[in-house]
Amino acid sequence: MNFKTRVTELFDIEYPVIQGGLAYLAYSDLAGAVSNAGGLGQITAMSLENPDELRKEIQKIRTITDKPFGVNFAIGQHGRRFEHMVEVAVEEKVPVISVTGGNPKGVLDMVKGNGIKTLVLVAAKRQAQKAEELGADAVMVVGHDGGGHLGRNDIGTFVLTPEVVDSVSIPVIASGGIVDGRGLMAAFSLGAEGIEMGTRFIATKECVDAHEKYKQAILEAKEDSTVIIKRSIGAPARALKNSWTEKILEMEKLNQGYESIKDYISGKANQRFIYDGDLENGFGWAGQSAVRINDVPTVRELFDHMIQEAEKISSRWS
Ligand SMILES: Cc1cc2nc3c(=O)[nH]c(=O)nc-3n(C[C@H](O)[C@H](O)[C@H](O)COP(=O)(O)O)c2cc1C
Repeated sequence: MNFKTRVTELFDIEYPVIQGGLAYLAYSDLAGAVSNAGGLGQITAMSLENPDELRKEIQKIRTITDKPFGVNFAIGQHGRRFEHMVEVAVEEKVPVISVTGGNPKGVLDMVKGNGIKTLVLVAAKRQAQKAEELGADAVMVVGHDGGGHLGRNDIGTFVLTPEVVDSVSIPVIASGGIVDGRGLMAAFSLGAEGIEMGTRFIATKECVDAHEKYKQAILEAKEDSTVIIKRSIGAPARALKNSWTEKILEMEKLNQGYESIKDYISGKANQRFIYDGDLENGFGWAGQSAVRINDVPTVRELFDHMIQEAEKISSRWS
């Protein structure tokens, strides 16, 4: 089967499969493995302490792979801290920059004219049109099924993807709930020209920073094992359900704003779960797709399996 789309052409990759930004997890080991397997790996910039750390990660990934990779900027909650990080990414001439969590204009303007490809994450048709107007090279549509931060309107991947495909002319990448070749082929059918996966990549060998207990919790997840927190502060995000998220939801019912829950939703609480494997004193993001994940392969094995499955489906269709 021919996997060439405008997304593979744009990013100069073999398969139209993108590893999503993964806060505190997506560094050069994972991103390099994804790029080496033929997809587009991404380093998540905003989890790094400072621009120098980002420069080191960029230099490190170049020792792991000579293939294209991206740097992801979740700009929402970081004030203007991201600007120095973007400057480093531009200086280092990274092949791709992706941006999410706020108005992408600032980042897109900084990147313009440097030969860097840009990708904007959206969760609504209007956002996708805006990204296209601002000059993004492609958009990634994240449906309600996905892990981590989501759109506010709870629209699932299956509705959002074709809506966006029909409303922009730049390539669209589908995200949220995709873990395998079936998801890849479904995304193609919806008009997307590539997929992004987040949760699936946590349960891989090269996601070296995720604690074994986090990976295990993903393997054991049922279809109702995730929950949306932070909705009361306008930033809904999907995490694995546990006593910690239950506490957050109780507090959110009181509607006392960000200050009242900030310690519970902090990066530290996230890190206790994902780095220390403390499954009851913190939280870990994951998508509904966790229920579909039953192994911890290498990234290469994951790609092989996904591509074989997609090819099987394709030959059955034809
Ligand atoms: C643990 C985790 C952390 C995430 N952190 C980020 C991030 O820093 N930046 C970003 O753009 N998206 C982030 N996301 C969203 C993913 O990039 C992706 O859009 C989402 O996981 C897709 O849904 P899926 O998990 O069903 O594949 C995160 C998702 C997870 C599961």
